[in-house]
Amino acid sequence: MTANPGPAAPRDEFPLLTIVEHPLVQHKLTLLRDRATPTKIFKELVDEIAMLMAYEATADLPLQEVDVETPLERARGARVGGKKLTLVPILRAGLGMVDGILRLVPAARVGHIGLYRDHDTLQPVDYYFKIPGDVAERDFFVLDPMLATGGSAAAAVTSLKRAGATRIRFLCLVAAPEGVRKLTQTHPDVPIYTASLDRGLNDLGYILPGLGDAGDRLFGTR
Ligand code: PRP
Ligand code: URA
Repeated sequence: MTANPGPAAPRDEFPLLTIVEHPLVQHKLTLLRDRATPTKIFKELVDEIAMLMAYEATADLPLQEVDVETPLERARGARVGGKKLTLVPILRAGLGMVDGILRLVPAARVGHIGLYRDHDTLQPVDYYFKIPGDVAERDFFVLDPMLATGGSAAAAVTSLKRAGATRIRFLCLVAAPEGVRKLTQTHPDVPIYTASLDRGLNDLGYILPGLGDAGDRLFGTR
């Protein structure tokens, strides 16, 4: 029997969660889950899904009115206002989501947060933090394909807030209810975007049905 990917009624419990249900996202996510998908295709799929998800996650960015000279006359136009959007991939696997989003928002800045999940305790261990200045006025998108126990995501957001960030969203490809719960309880102001809310975690903290180890599949280190 094919496993049901997710719980029955997630939306009431997780009001901050947006599941991007666009058919192209769901099609590509299914290819991504497939254990037979090779590293090269896996990388391309993560890149494409991240771009499609960013389209949704940027839908309410504020606009400024501007004038533009067309070849025929002056017209009213609009451009995204405020400080440049900042993408913050959680190393390593979050790196796979950066280029796709940069194709959509080429002016975005990129910070980095280095975290890995200890295999025994499942607790996040941090090793790197670098983000652009003017933190308080920027919108931050924290990127990581996997939201499992939520430990890494919650720690990354805590580090960003400690540095002064106030406007933070979290973008992942696959989330477990445990991770959404943890991130929502720790940071109730942070909207979460995912392509799927899966069923849960196994004893080793892997998402079921999930897609396996995202970092290993992206970088061929399996
Ligand atoms: C994976 C994943 C997340 C984290 C999710 O990274 O990319 O960062 O685990 O798990 P959590 O929600 O339980 O914290 P991993 O620690 O394997 O590091 P890697 O990207 O360097 O492989
Ligand atoms: N990290 C991954 O890469 N995959 C999981 O399923 C859980 C954590």
